[in-house]
Order: sequence, then C-alpha cells, then structure tokens
Amino acid sequence: MGTKGHLIATRFFSSNASSYDKIVRLTTFYRDSSWKREMMRFMDGKNKQVLDLACGTGILSSFIHNGSSSAKIFGADLTYEYLKLAKNRQSYALLTNSLAEFLPYRDESFDVIVSSYLVKYAELSTMVREHWRVLRKGGKIIIHDFTYPNARIMKLLWHFYFQILNELGKVIRPWKDVFSNLDKLIQQNPWVNNLVKELDIVGFTYISKKYYTCGTSAIVYAKK
Ligand SMILES: C[S@@+](CC[C@H](N)C(=O)[O-])C[C@H]1O[C@@H](n2cnc3c(N)ncnc32)[C@H](O)[C@@H]1O
Repeated sequence: MGTKGHLIATRFFSSNASSYDKIVRLTTFYRDSSWKREMMRFMDGKNKQVLDLACGTGILSSFIHNGSSSAKIFGADLTYEYLKLAKNRQSYALLTNSLAEFLPYRDESFDVIVSSYLVKYAELSTMVREHWRVLRKGGKIIIHDFTYPNARIMKLLWHFYFQILNELGKVIRPWKDVFSNLDKLIQQNPWVNNLVKELDIVGFTYISKKYYTCGTSAIVYAKK
C-alpha cells in the first residue's frame, strides 16, 4: 500500500542520489549537520539497536556512531539508489528497501528510531503505530524535519529563499521537482502537531517538540 506522500517521495528521489549529500549541505546552509547533532542530544550511550528510518545515503549514521559507538545501526529507505550509497558507508548492520509504514522487523526490535526529512512524506497514523510495534518498552523516537516558520519576517524570507531554489531547479535538473514543490509540501503539512497528537493517542510518553533555526525545522521526541 502506498500513500500520496510516498508517491511524491518516489518522484522526488528517483534520479538524484549521487548529488544528495552536497545538495542537503548547501541548501540548508550547513544547518543539516547541526540539526542532526541536536537529534543526537536526545540519545544516550546505552542505545543498542538503532533504526535510521528513511536513511537515504546514510548521513545520519556517522552522527549516531559518534554519539553511541556500540550502537548497532539498521537503515531502511524506499529508494534503492539511495540505499546503494548508504551501503558504501559500511556503518549499517543491515539495510532494507522498505516503507516506514510497513517495517520488515519483529515486534520490539529497537531501542531508538530516528528519522530526518521523512515525516512529511509519511502516512502518520500508520507510521506511528509501526514505530510503537517495533520499539522495545522504554524505547525512544527522534523525528526531525523542516517546518513552516511562524514569524512574519521569517515567512517572507522563507518564501524568497524558495523562489531562489525554484530558479536553481531550472539548471540543476535532477532537483527541479524537489526545488519547485518542497515549499508547498512543508507549508501544507503541519506535521509537528499532528505527530504529537498521534503519539499521544498510541500511548507514547515524554512527548516533546523543539523548533530550530527560527522555526524552519523541528525535532519531536517521545518514549514508549
Ligand atoms: C531527503 S532524504 C533524507 C535522507 C536522510 N534521512 C538524511 O537525513 O539525509 C528523504 C528520504 O526519505 C525516503 N522516504 C520518503 N518517504 C518514505 C517512506 N514512506 N518510507 C521510507 N522511506 C521514505 C526517500 O526515499 C529519501 O531517501
């Protein structure tokens, strides 16, 4: 079964895996690394089995490894071309070509599930239930993605920035679709509050949300 978000992600990431790392660094003005470091602040050294969901090319794996060197890291992503690059990093115990909503893992397999830039494509309710299923008791989730800023001035800057990205997409062809549609996807998806609601319904505790870089990105944390 697919979702609309999953179809958008399939379209977005079909032909740009090789340039992804460079593009994410440049287009976030190197904020990507600091957001990923912030995610790691929610982890502790005791994490044994970590699932990097929508791992893409595997950028997050080195951050996980630095924060918790004994962690066994598993990766999952729907785009095979991205997984091939993640495999080159040799940080993962196992990589699976799978959807976040339907994980090929047994119940209570993981101590932590992390994801960066996945949630806006995911079918929230199914994904949260799947998180609950594969997490051990006391396990944590750390979910990060872009958000639409609240402050008026930031909104203006944000839209201006996406106009520039849109123009860039005309010359960086493999990223055209992403650069011209990502703003609408983020703006129309109030994922932070929706996710917090779903987590609460399913029974997660210690749910927290934190915004970064003037409200342009957020991390949601919760515990089973
Ligand atoms: C922008 S990349 C992020 C990669 C990586 N997490 C990072 O932080 O660099 C988004 C990834 O999400 C994957 N993705 C999107 N929707 C997904 C879903 N429903 N299940 C699994 N992977 C998904 C895409 O294939 C893509 O590799």
